[in-house]
Amino acid sequence: MVVAIEWVRNPRPHIRLIDQTVLPGAVQYLEITTVTDLVAAIQSLAVRGAPALGAAGALGVVVAMNQGEQEGWDEAELQRNVDLVRDARPTAVNLAWGVNEVRHAIPEGADRVLELAQRVVDEDGAANRELSRLGADWILDATGREQVRVVTHCNTGALATTAWGTAYGIIHELHERGRLGLVYADETRPLLQGSRLTSWELTQDGIDHVIQADGAAASTILRGLVDVAIIGADRITANGDTANKVGSVTLALACERAGIPFVVAAPYSTVDAGTATGEDIHIEERAALEVLELGGVRTAPATARAFNPAFDVTPHDLISAIVTEQGVVVPARSGGGALFADLVNQ
Ligand code: MRU
Repeated sequence: MVVAIEWVRNPRPHIRLIDQTVLPGAVQYLEITTVTDLVAAIQSLAVRGAPALGAAGALGVVVAMNQGEQEGWDEAELQRNVDLVRDARPTAVNLAWGVNEVRHAIPEGADRVLELAQRVVDEDGAANRELSRLGADWILDATGREQVRVVTHCNTGALATTAWGTAYGIIHELHERGRLGLVYADETRPLLQGSRLTSWELTQDGIDHVIQADGAAASTILRGLVDVAIIGADRITANGDTANKVGSVTLALACERAGIPFVVAAPYSTVDAGTATGEDIHIEERAALEVLELGGVRTAPATARAFNPAFDVTPHDLISAIVTEQGVVVPARSGGGALFADLVNQ
């Protein structure tokens, strides 16, 4: 399985990232030793996906401490640089969460911060394994299908996490149980995380799939070609509203109409219980050229402008189940109330 992000000690301490901007054409790695390079890697999506961003945040504090040590930063400068990592992208709560999991230990030294950051990395992998088992159980029960046909959006596999994946992890788990039918992977405009990354991972795992244009997804669902939609999450608010890659809500609306489950899968680190509803989520808007160009070639008229939100919010009442390693919650049953206060396995 590919490792998207890890800490390497020798010959010099650094974060090793697989550069997701050049996949699947090339498998290249970045060695990150400065805050500037880490922020650039996060913003260019060389490292991406909410749980991988959590790891980048936690390990990024170690990078800042090492750089600060070499360059003689005072405490204020170190904290400013840690803030730069935390704020590199706004929507996935995991990034700030990862930073906050370790920054309180800065006075205890870089070794202690690295130990805590490594825990963030390891616990994410374990969480993904567990939520994948729970999600597969829930979906097999809910659909009653021998072979479950799935539609998914964006990339939620090992590349987007520290190991195994979330929505992708459930798909992988169904595959290992011999219970997976055809997977429809949305190409995921404008940066093609589905066709570039998810298809690459599915191919490596020997999972039968087709790539479809995002615009095909609702019709695929309404035509009865899939039994469930499974997506990841960048932020899940207290009432279950869920931010994920733009285009996700289209699947949710179609699933409701078709009467099939729409499932959100994420480690509990993606739950932002301090934010009440999806209306309070800061949705990242990215560069216009991502929409106006294809592969660096202008496809839109020279004067055309673009609207490029990177995420959308699916209201909780369109979500059939939210799967974390701590259990499965059914937002519709909570009436929008304190969804995660009383987490129970369904
Ligand atoms: O802009 P990206 O590629 O970071 O967006 C990623 C997604 O929206 C994923 O679905 C989400 O982070 C979950 S990854 C397990």
